[in-house]
Amino acid sequence: MTETAAARQSEMILSDQDRRGLYRAILGRRDVRGQFLPDAIADDVLARILVAAHYAPSVGFMQPWSFIIVRSPDQRARIKAAFDRANTEAALMFDGERAEKYRALKLEGILDAPINLCITCDRDRAGPVVLGRTHMPEMDLYSTVCAVENLWLAARAEGLGVGWVSIIQPEALRAILGLPEQVVPVAYLCLGKVSHFLAQPELQNSGWRQRLPLQDLVAFDAWQGAASTEDDALLAALRHAQDKAAMGEI
Ligand SMILES: Cc1cc2nc3c(=O)[nH]c(=O)nc-3n(C[C@H](O)[C@H](O)[C@H](O)COP(=O)(O)O)c2cc1C
Repeated sequence: MTETAAARQSEMILSDQDRRGLYRAILGRRDVRGQFLPDAIADDVLARILVAAHYAPSVGFMQPWSFIIVRSPDQRARIKAAFDRANTEAALMFDGERAEKYRALKLEGILDAPINLCITCDRDRAGPVVLGRTHMPEMDLYSTVCAVENLWLAARAEGLGVGWVSIIQPEALRAILGLPEQVVPVAYLCLGKVSHFLAQPELQNSGWRQRLPLQDLVAFDAWQGAASTEDDALLAALRHAQDKAAMGEI
C-alpha cells in the first residue's frame, strides 16, 4: 500500500467518539409529530442531510430516489386534508377503546414543520434490467427506504426532527405532487427544529405498543431456530446491550 493509500485508510477508521456519536444518533432518533418549531432550516444543513440520503446504498447503484421539498402552504394544506381524510378512515379500523386512543394520538406535523419532504422511488431509473434487482423487483423501494433512514439519522445529528406520515392515500399524494406513473411516493416526511426530543417513542409513552425484547427476535440457522449453548454468551450480550439502550446508553 502506498503512503497516500495508507493515510486514506487510517481516515476511514472511526474514532471511539465517532462510533459513540453514531449510536447516540441511532438511539436518540425519534419520530417527531408534536415538538416542531416553525424556525427555518438553514440551507447548508438541509443540503447536508440530503447528501446523507443520496449516499445511501441502492440496488445496482440505481439511486432511484428523488426529493420533493414542499414549502408551499397551499400544497401542505392539500396534503393535510388528504391526511385528515385517511386518518378518519383509519380510526374506524380500530375497535372501542383502541379507536378512542387512536383518535387522541397526534400522527403528523404537516403544518407545524417548516418543510415537508417527499422521497420518491423512480422504478425505471436504471432501465428494465437492474443488477441485483433481477429476482426481487422491490429492491428499488427498499433502497429508497435506506435513503430515508440515512436522512433521518443525519437530521437527528443536526438536531432536526423528522416525522414520517404514511396515513395518506398514495393516489392523493400522487395527484397533489404530480408524480408520473412509474414514480412511487415512498416517504412523506415533516422536517424541522424541535423544542425537544422525547426519550422514548410516542407510541411507547402513550401505552400503544412496547419495544419487543430483541432476544425473542433472533433465531439460529432457520426461522425460529433455537439457540444452542454456544449462543448463550451472545444472548446474554444482547440482553445487556438492550437494557443499556433502554437507558439511552451504548
Ligand atoms: C414506514 C413508517 C411509516 C410511519 N408512519 C407514521 C405515521 O403516519 N404517523 C406517525 O405519527 N408516525 C409514523 N411513523 C413513525 C412510527 O410510529 C415510529 O417510528 C415508531 O412509533 C417508533 O418511534 P420512534 O421512531 O420515535 O423510535 C412511521 C414510521 C415508519 C418507519
